[in-house]
Amino acid sequence: MLVVIKKGYEEMSKEAARVISEIVREKPTAALGLATGSTPLGVYRELIRMHKEEGLDFSKITTFNLDEYLGLPPSHPQSYHYFMYENLFNHINVNERFVHIPSGMVDVNEIHRIHKYCDWYEDRIGEVGGIDLQLLGIGKNGHIGFNEPGSSLGALTRIKTLTENTRADNSRFFDNDIRKVPKYAITMGIGTIMNARLVLLIASGKTKAGAIKKTVEGPITAQVPASMVQMHRKAILIVDEEAGSKLDVHYERIVTDLN
Ligand code: F6R
Repeated sequence: MLVVIKKGYEEMSKEAARVISEIVREKPTAALGLATGSTPLGVYRELIRMHKEEGLDFSKITTFNLDEYLGLPPSHPQSYHYFMYENLFNHINVNERFVHIPSGMVDVNEIHRIHKYCDWYEDRIGEVGGIDLQLLGIGKNGHIGFNEPGSSLGALTRIKTLTENTRADNSRFFDNDIRKVPKYAITMGIGTIMNARLVLLIASGKTKAGAIKKTVEGPITAQVPASMVQMHRKAILIVDEEAGSKLDVHYERIVTDLN
């Protein structure tokens, strides 16, 4: 695992975008695993800039998003579909046919359909030859995707019931009304994430410092799902100084290549 500590949010975002752009340039048909949330916004801004100013070409890139709320149509402003189009896809030349975001519209009451849908999502990832780079944010409790503490460390894409904590946390995006927050989501599992050839986890700010310490220096445990990246052969963590402030070891501050 490579831990890169950057001064602040902007530097973290630029470094992560640089790693992603290298993959896009080296392999124009790469499959990128993408995340939502506030942390990747700066990375997406930088990728948009690289597309507009440097001609970074996404036309043959395939994308797979980590997760989506069940019950929200793509047009819902809090759906992850909406987020991805608003913050990235509408501003780069990605081919919509190659974009995959778990559907929020599979009927929760038809569990066999959900299972089938999740299997299809995994199969699609397999059909394109696997994910080359998976971008991840991290929750304060160490969650990745909607894999909350206690999630199976080998699981693939599946339905998850959201914890009350996560729903309360996310209610800020739903008029502070927890009743409006969906109860279920479809999410890639830790197994799906571990299958990616490169995992790129980003974190910013003091509120993530505890989770980053446990992820990097703690035991590998389902109680901190992100700690599983310790087992990955090619994991890069790019954090800012605040998110890295609880780490014991003094890590490299500037890293210029992936080895
Ligand atoms: C988003 C996702 C979540 C977020 C995490 C951190 O697709 O899978 O696990 O990465 O909740 O969110 P932010 O970046 O908003 O702190």
